[in-house]
Amino acid sequence: MPFQTETPAARRPHPPGARGVRVESATRRFGDVTAVEALSLSVAPGEVVAVVGPSGCGKSTLLELVCGLSEPDDGVVEAGPAALMPQRDLLLPWASALDNAALPLRVRGVSKADARAAAAPVFAELGLAGFEGARPSELSGGMRQRVAFLRTLLAGKPVLCLDEPFAALDALSRADMQRWLADALGREPRTVLLVTHDVEEAVVLADRVAVLSPRPGRVVAELPVPLPRPRSVTDRAFVALRERALEALGS
Ligand SMILES: Nc1ncnc2c1ncn2[C@@H]1O[C@H](COP(=O)(O)OP(=O)(O)OP(=O)(O)O)[C@@H](O)[C@H]1O
Ligand SMILES: [Mg+2]
Repeated sequence: MPFQTETPAARRPHPPGARGVRVESATRRFGDVTAVEALSLSVAPGEVVAVVGPSGCGKSTLLELVCGLSEPDDGVVEAGPAALMPQRDLLLPWASALDNAALPLRVRGVSKADARAAAAPVFAELGLAGFEGARPSELSGGMRQRVAFLRTLLAGKPVLCLDEPFAALDALSRADMQRWLADALGREPRTVLLVTHDVEEAVVLADRVAVLSPRPGRVVAELPVPLPRPRSVTDRAFVALRERALEALGS
């Protein structure tokens, strides 16, 4: 798929005004492989849920179901209009970084100049100033990831499905992006499903951490994170929660 921020979920019928996500006993198979089985997970409007689980357990499959890019073989998936940031960035190689970021606005019919003007301030906030005209091939992996992230935000959907959004970033920029995302969600709440392999990132950002089993993935633990923001990774309550999530992941 060349461009995935405008997903079929936007066109699929959903309850009017729905901004949340409900996955009820969903199963998705690919031939002989069952990716997720009887998976249930709900996300309330404005809630941030992090999904962690072993490699190949069906995390990306779950996001594709929520965004309506695939349908469950069994069970129910309902969600408000959703934008997906896929695990691979899928930027248009021939378009500039700024035009890639502004693409969802162009798709909605905004003029090139207005789309660029709207995207530019956040582009700079994400540390991309000076790279507006660069092609994706001229950007580092971390920069491409930030452009893809911005493109997902600018799709303006109430539900964000983020698949390892900060995986290619070094530790410092990762912490910066986490802070930036937490601030942005504080200013303009969205319903977020965040897939990450980093349990610490999950506890920094989420209201709740859902832990998946090895494939076929299903939710084996849900840990609420009742910590005030901004969160300190050295705080005792934070460390205790991170340990509990790691335990659930290991068992
Ligand atoms: N389109 C597809 N066709 C065939 N098999 C698929 C497809 N999508 C996913 N799978 C299989 O389903 C299983 C779950 O894949 P998925 O990508 O959802 O896992 P994941 O948890 O996101 O993995 P990772 O941690 O590596 O990102 C894997 O065995 C994968 O090979
Ligand atoms: Mg994946």
